Amino acid sequence: MDAAIDKKALYALSYGLYVVSSRKGDKLNGQVANAVMQVTADPISMVACLHRDNMTTECIRDSKIFSISILEEETPMTFIGNFGFKCGRDLDKFGKCSYELGDTGAPLVLDHSLAVIEAKVSKEVDVFTHVMFFGEVVASRHIREGRPLTYAHYHEIKKGKSPKNAPTFTLNEVR
Ligand SMILES: Cc1cc2nc3c(=O)[nH]c(=O)nc-3n(C[C@H](O)[C@H](O)[C@H](O)COP(=O)(O)O)c2cc1C
Repeated sequence: MDAAIDKKALYALSYGLYVVSSRKGDKLNGQVANAVMQVTADPISMVACLHRDNMTTECIRDSKIFSISILEEETPMTFIGNFGFKCGRDLDKFGKCSYELGDTGAPLVLDHSLAVIEAKVSKEVDVFTHVMFFGEVVASRHIREGRPLTYAHYHEIKKGKSPKNAPTFTLNEVR
């Protein structure tokens, strides 16, 4: 990588951690993502940036809907392991987790979620290895009080890493 790029600078960016979920027909799937944010106020819209090879990306491309579950700080590493280190093509991630189907039909992860948000895709942009899904928010629900899980907490307290399809994968070596 370019010698002018100091990875410690990028590591200083702050994020939350979320489960982005969707469906393709009857197949429900979701994945952990940090690359999620609200981008406009009126209408309220969000973006989620997912690797083009992920099962969740395939689902969103098919159904044009997605949900975002905002994870709580206490989220166990086993939960993150299920949604963040495994591919839904190999297992049913929702078999191990409580969820509901939202207004859009997208699954809403309820375990360890402070709130859930549903969006309909308004635009899709390819960005090198990833796809940015812009979505207009059509429903949202606060579930429980708590502290949202940040990427800093995940790294510093949980000692968590990022797998190869995460945009921050190359920052694993920074400490
Ligand atoms: C802490 C953490 C953050 C992640 N952030 C992203 C992300 O922002 N975008 C992405 O595409 N993958 C991200 N990932 C990786 C996906 O969750 C992972 O590749 C997952 O296995 C994809 O599952 P799927 O193939 O079932 O969709 C992250 C994983 C972890 C553990």
